Amino acid sequence: VAQRVSPSRRSSKAAGAERAGTAPAPSSSSWSRQHLLGLRGLSGDELRTILVRARAYDRAMARVGSHTTAPTTTMGADASAPGSALDTRPISNELRGRTVGNLFFEDSTRTRVSFSVAARRLGAQTVDLASVGSSISKGETVGDTAANIAAMGVDALVIRHRSSGACHLVERTLAHLGHDGRVGASQQRVSIINAGDGRHEHPTQGLLDIYTLAERYGRLDSFDLRGLTLAIVGDVGASRVARSDIAGMTTLGARVICVGPPGLVPKALETLGCEVSHDLDSVLTRVDAVNVLRIQFERHESSGAPGAAGAGTNAGGAKGGNVIASVREYAELYAINAQRVARMKRDAIIMHPGPINRGVELTADVADSQRSMVLRQVTHGVVVRMAALSLCLGH
Ligand code: CP
Repeated sequence: VAQRVSPSRRSSKAAGAERAGTAPAPSSSSWSRQHLLGLRGLSGDELRTILVRARAYDRAMARVGSHTTAPTTTMGADASAPGSALDTRPISNELRGRTVGNLFFEDSTRTRVSFSVAARRLGAQTVDLASVGSSISKGETVGDTAANIAAMGVDALVIRHRSSGACHLVERTLAHLGHDGRVGASQQRVSIINAGDGRHEHPTQGLLDIYTLAERYGRLDSFDLRGLTLAIVGDVGASRVARSDIAGMTTLGARVICVGPPGLVPKALETLGCEVSHDLDSVLTRVDAVNVLRIQFERHESSGAPGAAGAGTNAGGAKGGNVIASVREYAELYAINAQRVARMKRDAIIMHPGPINRGVELTADVADSQRSMVLRQVTHGVVVRMAALSLCLGH
């Protein structure tokens, strides 16, 4: 799928620096893409361009007292007050007059809200569409739905869908309709941003994970991750977050080790450029960060056999699939708990994309500990999504 709207304008200096293993300072001219469908295939220069832009927004919001020094809100407080994580007043008018459509055909808390906050902070308007209450329930395809929303004149579609490749499908559908003259030039220019498609990719989650790691290790000036090792622990095979993390982190120089039982972490993942281990305790002492993944019971076929998931259900009550022998045994071997954290490097951090199944992949005490970057990740999601919207919409 052709994501670019014009030939790459990467400078020979930037390409040369990348070959030499140094991190050139990117500029917005390093970005020529209309869509953000995944991190796989993006150059280091392109990744740094988004991350540097995110950092600029991070600083701008800190200046107006609207951001990351206050990552949590007090229940009952005015959600639009300065310092609130949900402060949606614009810090820039660069997307004024533009409209961002949020098409979430699968549940979301963090991604959906932070894309809305991000768009509004850049002065854009947002429209929201979910599968419940839309004509998807009458059998309309995602391509038709997107084409209809595009025909109303939106500038970007942020799409989450349970099917891998759904965002590529929408991108191709709009391009095809444009070539046939059935949609106008303005609809052809609609940017598609992947907010998580099946097991494929979740590029803005990958970017916010990179941002969090870079912040913790003082790499926000370069986003050069060489010398850092990340373990991704859990249901890697079913994870779009893992695919985006592996693509982005390895391109920026990090070593990535995927850890979990063979049913969840197959050896074939090594073709993505990471390492694979089934022995968490031997890996943990060597890593600088752990990204813990939820077992995505909803993506695994249920065996229906009694006790197939040991305790029978996950913490949320969903039936287990046939990829692990039991949830209890999984937690014994792979849960990140206080005993395991105590064996990690002193500065190593714990990340989790959310939602957390407390007590399965991560114990509550670790999730709420000083080492946990979970809410920091969520905070960074806003500036990363501002950068993605800004760059894809042509600023
Ligand atoms: N991390 C993430 O994608 O969370 P949501 O499903 O809540 O958006």
